[in-house]
Amino acid sequence: MFFVVFSILISTACGLDNGLALTPPMGWMTWQRFRCITDCVIYPTECISEELIKNMADLMVSEGYLAAGYEYIIVDDCWMAKERDENGRLKPDPDRFPSGIKALADYVHSIGLKFGIYEDYGTKTCAGYPGIIGHLETDAQTFADWEVDYIKLDGCYNNRSTMVDGYVEFGKLLNRTNRPIVYSCSWPAYEEPLGIKSDYQKLVETCNLWRNWDDIEDAWTNVTNILKWFSSNQDRVANYSGPGHWNDPDMVNLVF
Ligand SMILES: *[C@@H]1O[C@H](CO)[C@@H](O)[C@H](O)[C@H]1NC(C)=O
Ligand SMILES: *[C@@H]1O[C@H](CO)[C@@H](O)[C@H](O)[C@H]1NC(C)=O
Ligand SMILES: *[C@@H]1O[C@H](CO)[C@@H](O)[C@H](O)[C@H]1NC(C)=O
Ligand SMILES: *[C@@H]1O[C@H](CO)[C@@H](O)[C@H](O)[C@H]1NC(C)=O
Repeated sequence: MFFVVFSILISTACGLDNGLALTPPMGWMTWQRFRCITDCVIYPTECISEELIKNMADLMVSEGYLAAGYEYIIVDDCWMAKERDENGRLKPDPDRFPSGIKALADYVHSIGLKFGIYEDYGTKTCAGYPGIIGHLETDAQTFADWEVDYIKLDGCYNNRSTMVDGYVEFGKLLNRTNRPIVYSCSWPAYEEPLGIKSDYQKLVETCNLWRNWDDIEDAWTNVTNILKWFSSNQDRVANYSGPGHWNDPDMVNLVF
């Protein structure tokens, strides 16, 4: 597992105290394989839908991944309807998730897995679905009501000057829901590639894990580029990785 290489275990000062991610969270996410496939007519078994998540969750159990420690199943971008509901709450695409997200989380929990979901600190998600800006409190409560266990908050479509404060605020709102939820931040991935050195102490205080660098794709050069970034920057970032707060090389710990 590559992840271990990056996670030199020297814990720094007080981090986020939600009791979660004491070891690097492991699981499976929809993005790498199923991306933003939303056409269930052409791709009935591959579109982002409750059927797909249930099938993959079943496989995580039946093929032994859960037993090996891969406990999170996480729906990445493209699960939402294009608009919020009349009360400003997020809602899933009604054709692809006819039973709703709470029912899906219940199913995932019933077979022993934990359920994760995606939003974006921006006016839109990277794929153009409703972003979280202007709805931080409502969305934190919605995710808690749905019994979500893990949130990946991406960083498309925002102004960098307010981005970090926005992530910190959402973290506080998650805490106020009283539901322990793993908080995966993406803000360094929107700073470091531009040559901006992220505030890792603030990341430790705010997030359970954070994307440091560029997206991984299906190419070995992608993996080696990420390895190169970590090897050139390890003296700066390794100290901040430890129980409850981890550097995340992008799904390397999540892919199987
Ligand atoms: C909220 O934060 C407090 C103080 O850090 C912590 O003790 C508590 O466990 C947190 N609760 C949740 C649900 O994350
Ligand atoms: C970012 O700043 C620009 C210019 O001030 C503004 O038009 C835009 O609405 C802002 N976007 C966000 C997401 O805050
Ligand atoms: C991975 O490859 C994609 C597509 O070629 C590219 O956009 C991305 O920047 C690459 N990421 C890294 C870390 O090399
Ligand atoms: C890492 O932590 C140690 C012990 O707290 C400290 O002496 C060292 O300067 C830190 N290194 C960096 C790069 O922050």
